Amino acid sequence: MTLETKLKQRQAKLSVIGLGYVGLPLAIEFARAGFTVYGIDVDAAKVAQLQRGRSYVGDVPSADVAAAVRAGRFVPTTDFSVLKKADTVNICVPTPLNKTKDPDVSYIVAAADEVARYLKKGQLVILESTTYPGTTDELILPRLTARGMTVGKDFFLAFSPERVDPGNAVYQTRNIPKVVGGVTPRCTAMACTLYRQTLETVVPVSSTRVAEMVKLLENTFRSVNIGLANETALLCDRLGIDVWEVIDAAATKPFGFMPFYPGPGLGGHCIPIDPFYLSWKAKLSGFEARFIELAGQVNGHMPEHVVRRVVEALNGRSRSVKGSKILVLGVSYKANIEDTRESPSLDLIELLEEMGASVEYTDPHVPKLDFAGRRRKSVPLTPAALKRFDCVVIATNHAEFDWREILANARSIVDTRNALKGKKSPKIVRL
Ligand SMILES: NC(=O)c1ccc[n+]([C@@H]2O[C@H](COP(=O)([O-])OP(=O)(O)OC[C@H]3O[C@@H](n4cnc5c(N)ncnc54)[C@H](O)[C@@H]3O)[C@@H](O)[C@H]2O)c1
Repeated sequence: MTLETKLKQRQAKLSVIGLGYVGLPLAIEFARAGFTVYGIDVDAAKVAQLQRGRSYVGDVPSADVAAAVRAGRFVPTTDFSVLKKADTVNICVPTPLNKTKDPDVSYIVAAADEVARYLKKGQLVILESTTYPGTTDELILPRLTARGMTVGKDFFLAFSPERVDPGNAVYQTRNIPKVVGGVTPRCTAMACTLYRQTLETVVPVSSTRVAEMVKLLENTFRSVNIGLANETALLCDRLGIDVWEVIDAAATKPFGFMPFYPGPGLGGHCIPIDPFYLSWKAKLSGFEARFIELAGQVNGHMPEHVVRRVVEALNGRSRSVKGSKILVLGVSYKANIEDTRESPSLDLIELLEEMGASVEYTDPHVPKLDFAGRRRKSVPLTPAALKRFDCVVIATNHAEFDWREILANARSIVDTRNALKGKKSPKIVRL
């Protein structure tokens, strides 16, 4: 039976390498479509949790994991030899930056080496990790062809960027259009067949490089536009204009404008990191990606700007940062999720502590936080707790926060998210 037929009849055995924010929802979606899916992760603790039917990703309910595991449709394991049984492999491992802000592709290389070890005829391999254009061709393809197999004939290789948006209730794995670029036209067609069994819209493109570049353009677009919003916020501050009112009014234009908002800085695994994959690749070919670098600088300085606002708020009460008690509201990088990776709240905590403040945090999604050498616990948000602090910094606007109660009880507030929109009080210092 050909792979295409096996896929259409749900007979194919699928596998996903890397069961994080991207890989786990994908594996569960495949299982829901009726496939048997091997989920492989090097983190034994995560695998053990999944085997017990427990999810650690907010958008994936534990009940869905438990049902898929019980039905034998989702098989979490640390053992790469299950790849021998798999007809397809989706690689969803991390792609961070190293200390010098260059791409760290070591996770991709490690996963590709395992795939190469077990590669069999007819297998379809798809890289989903965000990475620079050329990765699939330059890093994965040579590993898979090393033993003499031919791509597009003996096995199939494609890149398909993951666009998952954690916490988005409308757009999830199934209904986010999937861009797919194969090494050969047959590779593209085979990868499209896989995704069409599960996802609503599949968008084929002409090559892996185009597909890789699509993702980086999307994230660079966000980084640059957020940078513009942040720079506009700094400018409006100088001019004594409310930037939030400006953006809301500009957004009434029905064409040619898309609102982006200022904030305490970029966070998460994607927007602060991915554009540097592109600028690194650009540099290699002698091209200077100036927008990317500039947006990185503007966005990277936002935590310092917020600290200046805290100084201002405390000044209004004749207090210094040193010795003040400060409460940071929200430590995840965006509202209503639990992910604290690259969160600007962490920069704020660090900067304020360096200046001698005593900083605590509250976050309904993050009960505990290991940061800057110690374990911290979320402070329960009560009127009495709010009154204990000299300044409250709204860093993430979680839906659970009761803004009326916060405004009524906090002594002073720095609002970096316009969470207190429309509220007028001398206590509030806006970004
Ligand atoms: N989180 C997002 O919102 C998002 C959105 C779009 C794209 N992406 C991209 O998707 C990729 C994965 O991101 P994520 O957020 O899911 O990361 P993650 O850290 O949540 O998950 C990655 C998983 O891979 C595992 N892993 C690491 N090395 C491995 C290996 N060699 N073999 C098997 N498993 C391995 C880790 O233990 C972890 O569980 C990254 O390239 C990221 O940029 C992420």
